[in-house]
Amino acid sequence: MANFIRFNKSESMNFFMITIIGSGKVGGDAALFSALKKLDDQILLLDVAEGLPQGEAMDINHMLSEQGIDVEVKGSNNFADMKGSNVVVVVAGSGRKPGMTRMDLLKINASIVKSVVENIKKHADNSMIIPVTNPLDPMAYITYKVSGFDRSRIFGMGGMLDLSRFRQFIHEATGHSRDSIRALVIGEHGENMLPLPRFSSVSGIPLSSFLPKEKLDELVQNTKQVAARVIELKGATVHAPGNAISAIIESVVRDRKQVIPVATYLDGEYGHSEVTIGVPAIIGKKGVEKIIELDLNEEERQGFNKAVKSVKDAISGIEI
Ligand code: 2OP
Repeated sequence: MANFIRFNKSESMNFFMITIIGSGKVGGDAALFSALKKLDDQILLLDVAEGLPQGEAMDINHMLSEQGIDVEVKGSNNFADMKGSNVVVVVAGSGRKPGMTRMDLLKINASIVKSVVENIKKHADNSMIIPVTNPLDPMAYITYKVSGFDRSRIFGMGGMLDLSRFRQFIHEATGHSRDSIRALVIGEHGENMLPLPRFSSVSGIPLSSFLPKEKLDELVQNTKQVAARVIELKGATVHAPGNAISAIIESVVRDRKQVIPVATYLDGEYGHSEVTIGVPAIIGKKGVEKIIELDLNEEERQGFNKAVKSVKDAISGIEI
């Protein structure tokens, strides 16, 4: 068992344990950002590759030590060590290579995610699960089905990452502070993602007050395509996904009840069911506390329906 050094937390404070399964670059960065945000005093990195999670944990702990942050990161190859985890992040699986779409990873990652979720069920059956492995929406569906957990406990990270890119493009186009920009992206975390200019703003002022329609269309296209460009240039996306994971965990651990687009199971919302896809939801200590149904216009609704169809087609091709 991985032993953690426990620090003197007051008894009134909740004790949260975060486990990240998959200790590659994104998993490592998610641990790093979560530790820097002091989201809890213990974070476990799990991976089947011997040495990798241990080395990653040591490297992060050395950094935390200099910073004087008493968060203990532990690396392990033993799934049983996640026992007692409140939040489990699933990053395990193959990443997207240059020229690949996220959907190209469907077959290879489906069996990995299934076996990981079986392990979560066995060792941390009270946890919430944040799927991250691509293609995200089908993997979140597998996670929901295989775990049998209440749907409020499964929320995939995709839209949070997409909106961070949309936000950057809005910042570049308007010159306004990133801090004042709110952006929303729903739908598939893939080819049919739906950046929503109508639900994005600069300090509450609609984007259409700052940018003409053609420019907004360009930002939407750029948001959809920019991950492929990063992968082409540096081989993988790392910091933005790692940070987006930690932002979702933060809303859970601190019960912030932030509205975050997450891939969650729909049961009639937006007129769809039997599908897991990105929609805005209130994220707090109970996970998905409420799904927010936006009043989409005809064009947005068509885009959303297309995304649902794409995810459903993918789901129908995998055995669960
Ligand atoms: C990303 O959007 C590849 O899904 C990953 O960065």
